[in-house]
Amino acid sequence: MLLRRIKFAIKLFEKLFGKYKIQIVALAFLGFLGGLMESASISLLIPVFSMALGKDPLDIGTLSQVVKNFFAFLIYLRPQFFTHFIRNTLGNINYDMVWLLALIPLLFFAKSALMVWFSYIGTSIGTKFEFETRSRLYRKALLAHWPYLLKQKIGHLENTLMYDIRMSAKLMGGMISFILDISSLFVYIIVAVSISYQITLITLSVGIVIFVVAQFFMQRTRHYVKRQTVFNKDIAHHINEHISGIKTIKAAGVERKVALVGGNFFQYLRDFTIRQSLLKHIISSLSSPLSILFIVIVFAISYKSPDFNLTIFIATIYIIQRIFIHINTAQKSLHDMNDFGPHFVSVGDLETNVDKNLESDSGEKGFVFKDRLEFRDVKFSYPGKEPVLDGISFAVKKGELVGVVGSSGSGKTTLVDLFMRFFYPQSGEIILDGVNINEIKLAQWRKNIGYMPQDTFLLNDTISNNIRFYDDSLSEEDIKRSAEIANAVKFIEKLSSGFETIIGEHGVLLSGGQKQRIALARTLARKPHILILDEATSSLDNESEALIQEAIENLKGQTTVIVIAHRVSTIMNADRLIALEGGKIKETGTPEELLKKKDSYFYRVNLL
Ligand SMILES: Nc1ncnc2c1ncn2[C@@H]1O[C@H](COP(=O)(O)OP(=O)(O)O)[C@@H](O)[C@H]1O
Ligand SMILES: [Mg+2]
Repeated sequence: MLLRRIKFAIKLFEKLFGKYKIQIVALAFLGFLGGLMESASISLLIPVFSMALGKDPLDIGTLSQVVKNFFAFLIYLRPQFFTHFIRNTLGNINYDMVWLLALIPLLFFAKSALMVWFSYIGTSIGTKFEFETRSRLYRKALLAHWPYLLKQKIGHLENTLMYDIRMSAKLMGGMISFILDISSLFVYIIVAVSISYQITLITLSVGIVIFVVAQFFMQRTRHYVKRQTVFNKDIAHHINEHISGIKTIKAAGVERKVALVGGNFFQYLRDFTIRQSLLKHIISSLSSPLSILFIVIVFAISYKSPDFNLTIFIATIYIIQRIFIHINTAQKSLHDMNDFGPHFVSVGDLETNVDKNLESDSGEKGFVFKDRLEFRDVKFSYPGKEPVLDGISFAVKKGELVGVVGSSGSGKTTLVDLFMRFFYPQSGEIILDGVNINEIKLAQWRKNIGYMPQDTFLLNDTISNNIRFYDDSLSEEDIKRSAEIANAVKFIEKLSSGFETIIGEHGVLLSGGQKQRIALARTLARKPHILILDEATSSLDNESEALIQEAIENLKGQTTVIVIAHRVSTIMNADRLIALEGGKIKETGTPEELLKKKDSYFYRVNLL
């Protein structure tokens, strides 16, 4: 169980942090160096104190030995240099009080400088991780295939990209400071052992006990943290969902009820945060009284013993304090890592999922449409469901205007989704001039198909940018012309800033018909070879619908158009109609032919 978790953690670390390995190792080295400097200056206290007490400098502890040797080396160098300046400078150096006292703060300053560097590198890789991971996952999420995206909840992706990734960066920060603590601890322990191994041994045993007890508390907070990540996602979902439906909510007069439901979420979140923070603080605040208690006990036991030495005792105490502090901060870093772990896992999960659900492009061929498009015995069902489309076969000639009618739920949108390659048929083929459309490069395919869904998607931006829609190859002229074909220019020119008018969130400043015409202009601006409208006008008033119908009528002969409609009036100008029912094609013919047949499905619907 534990082993599996460790394995999982290592894999995740490798996946998300692997790129920053070198920097992390560099940090560990800097941390080690910093610890070395600090402990060196502390060990210098021993000879300083002994000098102050008028005794021979005591050279207990490896580091003060090293310093002493370093001084000896400098003194040895003195006659080797002939430069007057250097000789003079070196000439003053001696292993004495003044120089030792100067060296102690100097080492501390050097250590601080090192730590600034350390935190700079730390922040730099933390922010780099955040930036790179966010960009990568956003791109991958956008490139995922439709069946996966369809299942995503509003707000979850945003939460993961913004919040979970930030928390994962903090986890990396925790990891880095853990490295710092461990490397400093390592140095301190060596120094402490070289001064007094008994005291060090006891200190370490006590430290380990504290550590283990703290770990136990930490396990308990893990549970809260996990629930918290889930909650954060739920909250993001709740807010996003309800704000996007605010008009309906207001109309129904349920704002307060919604606020109450939201409030409950926030309350839960607060409870978790309190419990978690309490546990955390119990652990961290215990450490300093414990270390004092420990020092008192060591003093009480040892001060009467004949080889008790105050200098050594003071230096040891300082180092013990440092050891405790580092155990404590290591503990905290571990705790942080624990807190941020679930966010980290959630980022990892997202990446695994988007990687698994990348939209595949099997196609190699270019898009060529000269003659006909054909559905051949196409069968499709949603996972675990009855077939929605069952043996659909029909052909569309280039330049034709074909209407597809059928009642709600008859499979019209599914048909379009298959055509757009959002889904793939379980059997049968869609063929363009003898080529299975799956063999055509996906980007090519979609570029040449103009698709208009029922609900328009507009950006809170200018009309011009909504028509351009990230296609930089379009000129101002293209945009104007497509707006003209879409019957949109008249109303656009009446707006205060014409094409540069900002249309508000989802185009709230426009009417349904106007929005739809801008969407049509966007689609047409790309000069599609095939245009497909999925009930694009079904929610419009007659006048708006007539304007769009007229626009489509004008495309006749140049662009192949498939119009899906619920209302028969929309497609009376089609060259040919296809009536879909229960996943099968019920009848086909010209509108006139079908209207003549008194028992036709089409006739029945038209009269209703
Ligand atoms: N993503 C989906 N998962 C499962 N079933 C779906 C999904 N989308 C649509 N359906 C079902 O497929 C059938 C056809 O839906 P659809 O193609 O949207 O019909 P239409 O556009 O003609 O109203 C309906 O019964 C609908 O419930
Ligand atoms: Mg539909």
